[in-house]
Amino acid sequence: MHKVLITRQIPEAAVKYLREKKIRVDIYSEDKPILPKELIRRAKGVDAVIALLTDKFDKEVIDSLSNCKVIANFAVGYNNIDVEYAKKKNIIITNTPNVLNDSTADLAMTLVLACARRLIEGEKLIRAKKFRGWEPNLLLGVELKNKIFGVLGSGRIGTATAIRAKAFGTKILYTSRSKNFELEKATCAGKVSLNVLLKKSDIISVHLPLTSETYHILNREKLNLLKNTAILVNTGRGELIDEKELIKLLKKKKIMAAGLDVYENEPNINPELLKLNNVVLLPHLGSATEDARNNMAMLAAKNVVAVLYGKKPFTPVG
Ligand code: GLV
Repeated sequence: MHKVLITRQIPEAAVKYLREKKIRVDIYSEDKPILPKELIRRAKGVDAVIALLTDKFDKEVIDSLSNCKVIANFAVGYNNIDVEYAKKKNIIITNTPNVLNDSTADLAMTLVLACARRLIEGEKLIRAKKFRGWEPNLLLGVELKNKIFGVLGSGRIGTATAIRAKAFGTKILYTSRSKNFELEKATCAGKVSLNVLLKKSDIISVHLPLTSETYHILNREKLNLLKNTAILVNTGRGELIDEKELIKLLKKKKIMAAGLDVYENEPNINPELLKLNNVVLLPHLGSATEDARNNMAMLAAKNVVAVLYGKKPFTPVG
């Protein structure tokens, strides 16, 4: 009987599906990420792993997967896995694209609006019992209509975000290696270079995958191209932005605000961020909807079943 290790409790339907397919399931049931040592211990001899983005599959962990044919990442991003090394070991890697496009795009727009309308500052004011009634100058924000909305990385999630932003009356710019015809058709977007996007946009939403090429793509030099009034939102990966440099800009009010769902050293948040009023901070919730998580779990399980029964996986990477 095939055996799969699932490194955290995931939606039940996926576990049921695996059992129906006659696959033995070992679930790490603690309410915290599995430690590398425990992962190595449990992974020995399994045929497949359903993994989380918080599980690091480096060479040491991959070497312990003596019998594993597939690591099905329960995430669209797979920077937690040394894909090249896994490939050398004939382990297939899969991810969960598409099923979380809408949830993540919704969250990106949530952060944009929260920054533009100073949502958290208003909420804090109420809870601090400082609301004195309507005031003409209380927490004035900005409107989205006619603003330039820059999509940094125009894959599936970037496209879904741009379509939402277009509905708010923004003009879309995007960066991409090749023309994104779907995005251009849906939003009349214009493809531009990174520098032009950063200089011209009023709002920038980051949707790139994290790779060695995109690490700190928004470094000091690039961040300094932003307008003083810019709103920067990141629902991709924290390491895409040099967080220390971003904090400097926010402190000096060199941009209006940042909305962050991801951080450089998750789950550790730079304490300087916590002191700032011009940030909105969320705990990596991009795909955190019932629909997305159920569909992610089913897609991961289906990838495992496909590989273990000799078929092509639905969403391989690398
Ligand atoms: C979440 O961050 C994901 O990559 O799915």
